[in-house]
Amino acid sequence: MSERSPLVRGMRDLYADELARIRFVEEVFGNTLESYGYEIIRLPVIERTALFSRGIGEATDAVSKEMFTFDEESDPVSLRPEGTASCVRAVIDANLYRGGQPKLWYSGSMFRHERPQRGRYREFFQVGAEAFGFDGPDVDVELIRVVQDVWDQLGLANEITLEINTLGNAASRQKHREGLVAYLTPYKDELDEDSQRRLDLNPLRILDSKSGQTQRLIEHAPEISDYLDDESRRHFDEFQERLACQGVDATVNSRLVRGLDYYTHGVFEWNTERLGAQKQVGGGGRYDGLCELLGGAPCPATGFAIGVDRVALLQQDRGIEAPISTPDVYVLALSDDEEGFALDVAMQLRRQTKLRVRMHQGGGKVKARMRAADRSGASVALIIGAHEAASNQVSLKWLRTVQDQVAVPVTELTATLLNSN
Ligand code: HAM
Repeated sequence: MSERSPLVRGMRDLYADELARIRFVEEVFGNTLESYGYEIIRLPVIERTALFSRGIGEATDAVSKEMFTFDEESDPVSLRPEGTASCVRAVIDANLYRGGQPKLWYSGSMFRHERPQRGRYREFFQVGAEAFGFDGPDVDVELIRVVQDVWDQLGLANEITLEINTLGNAASRQKHREGLVAYLTPYKDELDEDSQRRLDLNPLRILDSKSGQTQRLIEHAPEISDYLDDESRRHFDEFQERLACQGVDATVNSRLVRGLDYYTHGVFEWNTERLGAQKQVGGGGRYDGLCELLGGAPCPATGFAIGVDRVALLQQDRGIEAPISTPDVYVLALSDDEEGFALDVAMQLRRQTKLRVRMHQGGGKVKARMRAADRSGASVALIIGAHEAASNQVSLKWLRTVQDQVAVPVTELTATLLNSN
């Protein structure tokens, strides 16, 4: 036997229940976003590395440590670690914001070279939405409402909490940055290694450090709220008022800085206590400077992305089952002579109903065929022998409940099956 090829670390094959939960979460998000008038956009998985280093920030973990980059010699490209930078590039390339204020959503694989564990993978799935051309914060609150609406539909409203903060406009951020550097520089040697590096490159991110020692040092560090100018303060006040008006519970966390550099003004994160260290199920915020930074016309923008895998895990933990795509109906002809008739019956059912109809293949004795029907997960078998084919009937046998097998004319089959559910 030849050697097997093992899975690449951090990658997964997804099927059965696990995939059903992921697909279900994606579907509920997609339907909800479309019900709010967001339009789907499909973005490439590979982009120029420069898009991410410029857009997300050279000093962020996502770019500096976690990107899958190749063709390093010529024009380096990377697997996307997130969707916002690509979405902004697409909007600029197609000039989508000229004609209006696009509200877009996307769904797909993202890649980050992190240490894999439950809820943290190297290929994971996000559903995200981005709105262009609105100063907010009305649209920011709408985005949060969309997500709240999804938590309600998924039965997760009590499991997830929302934290918000403001990073202010560019001027406030710059002042905060200077204040932080002035405060932390005397303690530089006591900071963890990452934070020492960030002190020059990206001091705001030190506030997000997981090191206990650094956490203690930043306890009394200056906060963004000390530096907000009038415009930034007004924006954040209105953001909070609108959230309260819409009945959205949110806690202000003045240490919330997000892991990506493009944010301005209101930022937010959804957390759960159920997934250990992988507590963040989603995040987002305003990024008013990104379009310009990536070569487009200035355009205010805001958005979010949800970690679909983590939401699916939450559902599993809560014992919430997603519909699995096993067949509903298993059609089996008892011999080759009835095969054509059975195929017609199956086709008719697929066209007239949304039922998933699987044909038996591979022959076998009657007992083996019935065992295959049972193993397929279908709830009903349609058995077709010579008598049934001759009289335009099928024998209908329920596989999960104890009921007598009955003969049903093909003309009544659709109604019989649909009425039984
Ligand atoms: P992010 O917070 O980096 O934001 O990622 C969003 C979500 O993706 C996280 O909250 C988390 O649930 C999930 N996630 C991140 N890394 C992993 C991983 N390795 N395995 C499993 N799940 C993961 C963004 O990506 C921004 N683009 C969000 C945004 C959109 N901001 C504005 N618009």
